Order: sequence, then C-alpha cells, then structure tokens
Amino acid sequence: MIALSIAELAEIVGGRLSDISPEQAARTSVTGSVEFDSRKITAGSLFLALPGARADGHDHAAAAVAAGAVAVLAARPVGVPAIVVDPAASDSRSGALEHDDAAGSGAAVLAALAKLAAAVAATLVARGLRIVGVTGSSGKTSTKDLLAAVLAPLGEVVAPPGSFNNELGHPWTVLRADENTDFLVLELSARHRGNIAALAAIAPPQVAVVLNVGTAHLGEFGSREAIAETKAELVQAVPKSGVVILNVDDSAVAAMAGKTAARVVRVSRAAPADVWAGPVALDELARPHFTLHAGVGASEVRLGVSGDHQVSNALCAAAVALECGATPQQVADALAGVGAISGHRMQVSTRADGVMVIDDAYNANPDSMRAALQALAWIARGEKPGAQPRRSWAVLGEMAELGEDAISEHDRIGRLAVRLDVSRLVVVGVGRSMGAMHHGAVMEGSWGAEATAVPDVDAAHALLRAELRPGDVVLVKASNSAGLTALADALISDDAGDR
Ligand SMILES: Nc1ncnc2c1ncn2[C@@H]1O[C@H](COP(=O)(O)OP(=O)(O)OP(=O)(O)O)[C@@H](O)[C@H]1O
Ligand SMILES: [Mg+2]
Repeated sequence: MIALSIAELAEIVGGRLSDISPEQAARTSVTGSVEFDSRKITAGSLFLALPGARADGHDHAAAAVAAGAVAVLAARPVGVPAIVVDPAASDSRSGALEHDDAAGSGAAVLAALAKLAAAVAATLVARGLRIVGVTGSSGKTSTKDLLAAVLAPLGEVVAPPGSFNNELGHPWTVLRADENTDFLVLELSARHRGNIAALAAIAPPQVAVVLNVGTAHLGEFGSREAIAETKAELVQAVPKSGVVILNVDDSAVAAMAGKTAARVVRVSRAAPADVWAGPVALDELARPHFTLHAGVGASEVRLGVSGDHQVSNALCAAAVALECGATPQQVADALAGVGAISGHRMQVSTRADGVMVIDDAYNANPDSMRAALQALAWIARGEKPGAQPRRSWAVLGEMAELGEDAISEHDRIGRLAVRLDVSRLVVVGVGRSMGAMHHGAVMEGSWGAEATAVPDVDAAHALLRAELRPGDVVLVKASNSAGLTALADALISDDAGDR
C-alpha cells in the first residue's frame, strides 16, 4: 500500500483512534501491507481485525502488533494502537456478508476497508495506475491469470491470488498496489444484484472485460436476464474515457455495448471483429492454437492451457494488452508462457503409470462442464501426431446453485457424456441432481459399467484405484462444495506402484 499515517487512515475510514495519541498517529505511518492474517504481518503492516468462522481477529491484535503491525483496524478497542470503526455506523456496502453474530463488526471493518481501498485506488489512478476489471459467469480467474501474463511485459502488475474476489479479497487486492504498480487486475463476481457495482465503485476500471453470461448461480438470480444485468454493472462503471471489451460471441454480452459510454472493443472467435481468432485447432492435450487478428497486425498464438473454451479468455486478455500498447507478437509470446492457471482448473498431469488426470475440480457449472467434457473427449481421441487413443473417464460431482434447473442440467450432462463417447462415467454423490445425471446417461443409451453411481469421494477413489489402466485419461470435475479437489489430488499422487 502507499504510505499513509494512522491519522490519515482514521480520517479516510471515519474511525476513531484508540490506544494511540493524535500526535503519535500523525507521526506513525503504515508503510507495509494490509493483512487480515496475523501470521502474514511484517514491519509497517496494518492489521485488519475480522471475525472469522473459527477465530476473531480482535483476539490476535496484540500478536499482530508484536509482529510489526503499526496499527489495527478494528470494531472495538483491542489494547494496542487501533483505528476503531463503529459497527452501528457501517454503511451497506458489505451487504453481501452473511449475517451471523459477528456480522456487525465484520461489516464495519469491511466497510472501512472498502473506503480505504477506494481512496488508495483514486490516488494511484491519478498517478497513472490502470485498473482492469474482468467479469463473466465462467473464466474470470483464468482470464485474470492470462491478463497478468500479457500485461507483465508492459509494466508491474498486481492481481489477486486464485479467485480472491469477494468483499474482502477485492479491496485487499486493491491495497496490494502502490506507486510502482502499473496495472491492477481485478476479478469481479456477483452473488446478488449490486455486488459488481459496489466492487467497481471501490476501484473503477478504465478497462473492463465481460466474458460470458451463463447460468452460474442461476438459483440466486432467478433468470439469465438478471445475471446479464448484474454483469452489465461493470461496463456501466467504466468512465467515458475508458474501454469496454466484449466477447460478442455471447449475444447477452454483445448487447452490453449499448450500456456504456466508453469505447467498445469487440472480440470474437467466430467472425472478424476488432480482435478475433482465425480457425482454432487443438493439440494432443487440447491446447488451442490460432491466428490472433487485430487492427495493428496478427500473430500465431499457441496456448499453454488446455480447453477450447480458453480461446475466448485469451482473446479478451489479448484485447486488453493490445489496448495497453502490446504488440500481437508480445501477446502471443506471453500467452504461450502460461502453462498453468490458478489451481484445479484444467490441470493436466500424467502419472508415472501413464494415467493422465485432468483436474478441473475447482468449480463447475453447465458451461464449464461441457467445455471440460469436450476437452476430455478430444484428448481421448488421440488424433494428433504423437498422441494415442485413450480410454476416457469422466468423474463428475454436483453442479451447485442451479435452482430449479438443477435436475434438467444434470440430466443433460449425463447425456452429453454418452454423446461424446466417454468410456466410463462415474457419478459421485447422492441426491436428486446426481441421480438425474446418472439417469440421463442411462436414458441416452449407456449400459453396464459405462455409467456408475457412487455415493462419495472415497467410493470413487476405490473404484478408480481398482480399475484405472495405464494410458487412461480421467477428468475430475464438480462444484467446489462436492469436494472432488481432494479426489483429484489423491489420483495424481497414486501411481501403479501403490495398487
Ligand atoms: N470461457 C469459458 N467458458 C466455459 N468454461 C470456462 C471458461 N473459462 C474457464 N472455464 C472453466 O470454468 C471453470 C472455472 O474457471 P475459472 O476459475 O477461470 O472461472 P471463474 O469465473 O473465476 O469462477 P468463479 O466464479 O468460481 O470465480 C473451470 O473449470 C474452467 O476450465
Ligand atoms: Mg474465479
């Protein structure tokens, strides 16, 4: 973070000083990072006292100061120098926070954090920082990782780790930026209407990317139109002088051109646009390659990540970099260098016994399920030189939060696995949705051991240990809540030796 005195911080967040005199607060500056985990504190840090599920940050305030924090941002006095914000006075900016016993003080500290992040972002933007915001139903984290890579040749980039994009992760990431930062890349996600507007108000992007409008969290929103309106909050937050990058292959995204005063850059993998891809081909690991076309020229792009769906993400990242002054060749080189995106997303690894595991267990919705199954089918076909046909396994768990569409969407995925000729479908978990996936596969013509239902991760692991053969390719995918990341990890660390 940029250096600010404790007195300035108190003024920005509207808090009062506790256990520190006004003179001392004016003389003492936060020169380090802002942390909510007391173990991450270093000299000059500001510690955020947040009530968590297991521990209350207020109880760790003294330890944080002992570790080097110069002050604590807290909801009550903590016996060490602090800026105290009053729970009763907190605004509704943190309305997304679930209301439990600690919600009042958590909301107050998060509201203060948002004010601090907004002030720091405004200061840095005035000094030339460029903020890039990404939203969409699928691919935000993937695109954020690709963006960090394509912008790196142009300057210092700050981006959140993993998918840390909520009302804590977003302002916390903003506060990682300082005078040396050229680009701040932010992932904006929504569980409710207004979430994206609130996050964008903290750090208004000069460049916004909208990837797609799918059915993720359909249960929460009720309709795809409501999801589209919520994603459009990002383009509405871009100033007239900014740029909005739209994946026009998605009609709901293309329609957002009418909702912004900023310049629009259209991106397509299907037809000529401002930035577009020539025909896309896949290599033996389903890594796409294509010609990147833009007004300033063209380049040959070979992605280091698997899945045809990464093409749109890469094109959007490319469009941002081109807007920021990169050449098509710089973009192609940077994209080729991204071998893995944040964990458990289409990570392909091959075990010593030749079993290939595609770990896509971080998350799932109908769109990303389809994309992953297509990549599995492609790899199993083994058509490319040097590749071999493989027996394919789709080990799938529940796609959460689909509301009333849950049954039909799971049924469709079961049927799709059969249509794509997946050799073995393993449906993991009990309940109506998983029953529908299994039933869908059977109705589509699956018989015998081709579609198997198992109650849990342990049963799936036992089945796979018993039946996987060298050369098989296994996709592991579900919503995070299904816990299949542990299965993917276990499968990768298994090898022929421990069977
Ligand atoms: N453009 C896309 N279309 C469909 N699926 C995609 C796309 N991009 C990524 N995916 C898949 O969606 C899943 C989640 O990817 P990623 O984490 O990048 O998305 P996200 O939007 O950040 O998700 P979250 O909402 O959980 O933060 C992965 O399985 C990934 O392979
Ligand atoms: Mg994400």
